[in-house]
Parts: sequence; structure tokens; C-alpha cells
Amino acid sequence: TFDGSSIYQYEGSWYRPIFLAGLISSRKHFQAKDSDVIVITFPKSGTTWLKAFTYAIVHRSHHAIFDSNSPLLTTNSHDLVPLLDFAYYPNNNNSSEHISSDDPRIFGTHIPYSSLPDSIKNSNCRIVYMGRNPFDQFISHWKFLQNVAQEQNVQPISFEEAFELFCKGIHAFGPSWEHVLGYWKASLDNPRKILFFKYEDVKEDTSFHVNKLADFLGCPFSDVEKSQGVIEEIVKLCSFDNMKDLEVNKTGRFRGSGVKNSNFFRKGTVGDWTDYFTPSMSERMSKLMEEKFSGSDLTFKIS
Ligand code: PPS
Repeated sequence: TFDGSSIYQYEGSWYRPIFLAGLISSRKHFQAKDSDVIVITFPKSGTTWLKAFTYAIVHRSHHAIFDSNSPLLTTNSHDLVPLLDFAYYPNNNNSSEHISSDDPRIFGTHIPYSSLPDSIKNSNCRIVYMGRNPFDQFISHWKFLQNVAQEQNVQPISFEEAFELFCKGIHAFGPSWEHVLGYWKASLDNPRKILFFKYEDVKEDTSFHVNKLADFLGCPFSDVEKSQGVIEEIVKLCSFDNMKDLEVNKTGRFRGSGVKNSNFFRKGTVGDWTDYFTPSMSERMSKLMEEKFSGSDLTFKIS
């Protein structure tokens, strides 16, 4: 496997056992409400960031998100926006703790489109998806696994082996191209239900995307809010530099898995992969993406 632990194939994608159990359980038990917002990503594609600004947009009128004790300053965004998969994990004694009493509720998940709970597909809840170029996504994941392995005193598999498995699609929630294409196509078929963002585009013009997401979620910024600079405030609050330096992200641990919150903040840039890929690796990845994305007009900026 990608990181040396066991993963299982189910309906064409790969899962760690806890996530597979969560997927099956959430499909059985999760009842989506029309007001729900589901934040979906392929891992290491900007989940932490997307959760933060979705939370800020949705809750700006009922939580004091700009105060000094704003939830966004005191809580890691993975704890603010719980994973649907963990909330419905069958033996999770703390599951009620993970099920939000907020209204609207916001959940996160990495479940591929084809395996989503029917209740999500059949209700009017909305999905916001963030994809990222696979070069940076792979490096981000590799670095994350290396850090976690070091924390847990285990040996991570080699860079080359991880790359090989990535190219074969054998890694958690992989193959990545099927994940991203599934949501890309679904967003074209149903643009009122699924909004598709790319990490690189959001990096380039964050305000534009924050504004677009608020419109999509049915809570647009008023002219007064715009003139008060609320969009820019949210962008700043959720920026990499701001979030990385928060006490909770420097010293805290993610409730779900116990890993250090600092692992979710590494570089936050586009193009970091160039420091790691050999020419033959980048050629192979380019070819793979060309082949997998052919026939769709999905492209990613890689620098
Ligand atoms: S996870 O574990 O799937 O939730 O990780 P995820 O958040 O999807 O991906 C982690 C990468 O996102 C970067 N990151 C950010 N970028 C921009 N702005 C903000 N606020 C932000 N927060 C996290 C993080 O640094 C990881 O990317 P890399 O390339 O490793 O730096």
C-alpha cells in the first residue's frame, strides 16, 4: 500500500478499514438535510482550507467569526467541520460529539462521487469540491505520511514505491483521477448541486472564490458586507500564514486521528513538486494525467 498499512478495494476505490466502515455506515444511516453543505476533496487537495472558508461563509451571521475567540482561531478546521465518515463510524462512542448541532450543518468527506450516500444525491444539499494538481497532491501526501510515520516511529515506504502505487491508483480513496473526474463530470451535469474548485485557482484569486461559494450556498455577501471588506477578512482569516501560526495548529492534535495539527500546514504553494520529481517521474505523471483526463476538458495548473 501507499504508506505500508492495509487498504481495501470497494466499488473500484481504495480505503483504509476505518474509512470503509465509515462509508458503509454513513450510507446506511446518514440522512442529509436540504440545508446541509458537504465539503468534498481528494486528500491533500486543500480540505483544511476549504473547510475553514466554508465554515466562515456559512456561519458568519450566527457565530462571531471575527472575534478574538472565533472558532476559526481556536479550533482546527477538521474539528469544526467533522468527517461524515467518522461521525457515522459504527463503533464510535463519541459519534454524537461529531454530529453537528449547527444549522446549517457542514460535513467533510473524501468519499468518491459514485459511492456517496444516496441521501446526499437525492436531497437538495449542496456539495463543494476542491481538486488539486496530482503532482503537488502526491508530494503533499507523501510528506504528510513521512511526518506521521516519524511521529509514530514507523518506517514509511520509499518515495519511489509510493509513486508507483500512486500511478497504479492504489492509495486511500484512489485512483485520484477517478475521484476528481467523478466530481468534475457531476458538477457539469448538476451545477446547482456541485461547485467544483481547483486549489490553484483559489490560490490565485481567493476573494473571487469565497464570493462565488457564498453565492452558490445561498448566503451571498450583501453590498454592506462587501463595502466593509468582509470577504477580504475571511480570506485573511483562512489564509495559510494565519492558520499555520495559530496556537491550536502549532501545538494541538486532530481529535479524529491524534495526528499533530501542524501536519496539515506544510507549504501551501503551487509547484513544490519540482523539488522532488525526477524528469522521468514528471514525464510519467504528465502522460498518466493526459491519458486519464482525455475526453474531459479538465486541466490543472502545475506551476
Ligand atoms: S487533508 O489531510 O486531506 O485534510 O489535507 P488537505 O488540507 O487537503 O491538504 C493539505 C495541503 O493543503 C495546504 N493548506 C493550505 N493551503 C492554502 N491555504 C491554507 N489555509 C491551507 N491550509 C493547508 C497544506 O499546506 C498542504 O499542502 P502542502 O503542499 O503539503 O503544503
